[in-house]
Amino acid sequence: MSSSAGSIRRPNSGGARGAHRERHLAALRAGLAASAPGSLAQGEREDLLKMREEEKMARDIYLRLFERWGLRPFENISGSEQGHMDAILALLDHHGVPDPVQGLGVGQFRSPEIQALHDRLVQEGMHTQGTAIRAGLLIEELDIADLRVAAGRTRRLEILAVYADLERGSRNHLRAFHRWMRRLGIPYAPTHLTEREFYSIATSAQERCH
Ligand SMILES: [Fe+2]
Repeated sequence: MSSSAGSIRRPNSGGARGAHRERHLAALRAGLAASAPGSLAQGEREDLLKMREEEKMARDIYLRLFERWGLRPFENISGSEQGHMDAILALLDHHGVPDPVQGLGVGQFRSPEIQALHDRLVQEGMHTQGTAIRAGLLIEELDIADLRVAAGRTRRLEILAVYADLERGSRNHLRAFHRWMRRLGIPYAPTHLTEREFYSIATSAQERCH
């Protein structure tokens, strides 16, 4: 990525949303500290590493698209993706797995596949507000689909709880982008969820955090 990518500011962690995220993270870390880590199966480990990078991809793309378009959902949701990254990091720390994105700047990834997807979506999202919203929809669809696969491959309650939390967040993000899709009158064809799954999420009510 260009050198300017590293200079993009991180999501604003202040305000009520930031305080709310901090409380969530503190509760998660406290719960983890009270339980024995045990050893992860290889698949569980791979899924956590992948989700850590995937949440970073979402955060980094939304930061870029907010900078380009100034549309509020990109700013709010990039902050939420930071919370998702932090939650996965807490699980990695708990299980003694090194952070795959340690030391990487905005727009930089360890996984070549995620790097390629990031680069493509940033490029597409730069054209118009509509292509930016479509990139958001695709990211959230992918996130939901991958979280469901990952949740199907673990029985660990602490991991399942985090995946469920992240999936609920992603459903809300999908709803927010879907509202923009309608406002801008742009077409969208889901690729990672079925049409039925996509619309049942997109058209249902925003879910509250506990
Ligand atoms: Fe999301």
